[in-house]
Amino acid sequence: KADEKESMYLVAEYAQKYFSNTMMNTDEGQAIGFSYFKERGFTTDTIKKFGLGYSPQAWDAFSKDALGKGYKQEFLEKTGFTIVKENGSLIDRFRGRVMFPIQSMSGRVLGFGGRILDSSKKAAKYLNSPESDIYHKSKVLYGIYHAKQAIAKEDNCYLVEGYTDVIQFHQAGIESVVASSGTALTPEQIRLINRLTKNITVLFDGDAAGLRASIRGIDLILEQGMNVKVCTFPEGEDPDSFAKKNTHDELVNYLATNAKDFIQFKASLLVDEAKNDPVKKAGLIRDMVTSIAKIPDRIQREIYIQESAKIMDISEQVLSSTLAQLMQKDV
Ligand code: CTP
Ligand code: MN
Ligand code: MN
Ligand code: MN
Ligand code: MN
Repeated sequence: KADEKESMYLVAEYAQKYFSNTMMNTDEGQAIGFSYFKERGFTTDTIKKFGLGYSPQAWDAFSKDALGKGYKQEFLEKTGFTIVKENGSLIDRFRGRVMFPIQSMSGRVLGFGGRILDSSKKAAKYLNSPESDIYHKSKVLYGIYHAKQAIAKEDNCYLVEGYTDVIQFHQAGIESVVASSGTALTPEQIRLINRLTKNITVLFDGDAAGLRASIRGIDLILEQGMNVKVCTFPEGEDPDSFAKKNTHDELVNYLATNAKDFIQFKASLLVDEAKNDPVKKAGLIRDMVTSIAKIPDRIQREIYIQESAKIMDISEQVLSSTLAQLMQKDV
């Protein structure tokens, strides 16, 4: 089994070299893949640092090449790069896409996200490697290998949604950033960060889905005894587009000014939608206390209760007794 996994790692590593080489050294790769990344504002250094590449449009270019190099079909299938059709012919999973290799904490290539170039097409914008013995989507964080040192040093981790958010932040000089690769953050992903820092700043997209994901992420992070801040972006912006539009100093300044602890963040939702509505306000206070109930440390819970009481203009006693009730229900 260990041998099998090693063979799969080797296939994934070869795929990364192949896609990178295809982009840098073929006409199709240059015309389609490389120019796409350039248009997005990625420098050649960035492209190399993240091992970005391009998968050719031909049906079976990668499978044929890898088989020719001696990689076994079994492992090409198990890693998901090769799909066997009913008539027995082989096709490549990734065709005509720009490729983002996903690396483990120690830098091994586990799988890929492949982006379609023409978003008007019906196909999913991003196609990912399938679950396999080496790639578990819920247990990886895109960018962790390139971020781990900066996260430990700065004692904070920025958590974004997507591949391009991570990459654009690096270009903007912020390296302590990882992506959940989609919005469904998992406890395993948070545990990876927990090994490096106790502080997470959530930077999800400025749309309804991003907001929902931030709210959901808060409780998962608090449950692990970590501190969580949330910084939202203007409607329609994500960390990639925002970083691209602003200078390094503007970005750093925006993050510093707009990152709120989770109590302030939830209070700001109230201001937006329920200011003078007592029923909504009560719902939001209950929601805040529900989040506080997830915090393992008693003293920290107390501190947040005090903060919420002040911000929401409600007595600490009411909040404390609500908290006590909620915590009894939990056990
Ligand atoms: N994602 C995915 N499959 C999709 C859509 C999204 O796996 N069909 C994941 C990708 O990891 C993506 C992340 O969710 O990076 C965030 O999605 P989204 O915000 O829609 O994409 P962006 O990262 O902003 O990508 P782009 O700027 O290239 O449109
Ligand atoms: Mn496994
Ligand atoms: Mn999004
Ligand atoms: Mn996005
Ligand atoms: Mn984007």
